[in-house]
Amino acid sequence: MSPFLDTFKGIKSYSPPIWFMRQAGRYLPEYLDVRKRCKGFLDLCYSPELAAEITLQPLKRFPLDAAIIFSDILVVPHALGQKVSFEEGIGPKLTPISLHSFEDHLTVKNFFKNAAPVYQAIHLTKSKLAPSKALIGFAGAPWTLALYMIEGEGSRDFAKAKRQAFENEKAFTSLLDYLSEVISLHLIEQVKAGVQTLQLFDTWAGLCPATHFEKWITSPTRKIVSNLTEAFPSLPIIGFPKGIGANLGEYVSQTKVSGLSLDTTIPLSWAIKNLPSSLILQGNLDPILLVSGGESLKKSILSIHEDMQGRPYIFNLGHGILPQTPPSHVEECVQIVKGQR
Ligand code: CP3
Repeated sequence: MSPFLDTFKGIKSYSPPIWFMRQAGRYLPEYLDVRKRCKGFLDLCYSPELAAEITLQPLKRFPLDAAIIFSDILVVPHALGQKVSFEEGIGPKLTPISLHSFEDHLTVKNFFKNAAPVYQAIHLTKSKLAPSKALIGFAGAPWTLALYMIEGEGSRDFAKAKRQAFENEKAFTSLLDYLSEVISLHLIEQVKAGVQTLQLFDTWAGLCPATHFEKWITSPTRKIVSNLTEAFPSLPIIGFPKGIGANLGEYVSQTKVSGLSLDTTIPLSWAIKNLPSSLILQGNLDPILLVSGGESLKKSILSIHEDMQGRPYIFNLGHGILPQTPPSHVEECVQIVKGQR
């Protein structure tokens, strides 16, 4: 049995299941080795053998309870025909779409052919993964994806994309609807290929104003959750709406996610008091503490343990592992969480 999947059935184990966002990546020398073999980052995402190898790398080092398939949220716009590239030291670059003509530039026609290597990587990974380890699939939520697709690159405030959204609300809502459907299909294929649970990354949810929260965040996410639970009724779906603070209650009741990944700003005592007891909480160690290691790391892990006593939960960070993280600190963290140190 899988401690990760058991948690969603209300079964609590001796220590919480543990995995890390971005557990496969640049902090691991073996990742950098494989990375050198591919010219572009997307080539890596579209090479089933290499993507499967990278997915399994952190599980070879650490006794983690889940693997997350190695891919990227920007595979979706790319497979829809948008130009996407990753520039060394800069981050993603996309040819920005226009809200008035996005349907002329994006097409689902070749989507499954383009994204097929992702499903092959899942299939391959599953065949090599111990049954006690859960395999996690994922996608970006419509709001976060739309921001990248319109802005054309990462940004602190996504001011250009947000301005377009406010000035063309109807067209922006159509784009979110379009993305909700495509993301649903992409996730359904991932489940068919072998993932047992899903996480929806809404990294920039905190940039959505409260006035538009329901329209732009919860309603598109609700559609995805509803499409997936219709196809797979007992599939656990974890939402990660980063930075929404007091709107978390509304997010949970409106989207009907079964799990919630909490960012580092959320006091666990608040989450326990204000969110439904059936909801599986995940989080929320500060990624910088994994860079620090030592006493500060141990103290914070034990404090999470204490807050979550008596409640099934999944141990994770409040955001992804940073490239400067020493792998030995990740090992230290897993041992402390598992009560072995
Ligand atoms: O181990 C895992 O968590 C699985 C793989 C994964 C990646 N990206 C690999 C990756 C996952 C789940 C993501 C999600 C993702 N991608 C998000 C949402 C979560 C978050 O971190 O906020 C976002 C916003 C993206 C888009 C993206 N991809 C950006 C902004 C960047 C550049 C920033 C950076 O960290 O380099 C990427 C590139 C990326 N995605 C890398 C990895 C390992 C690094 C690329 C490299 O090796 O050159």
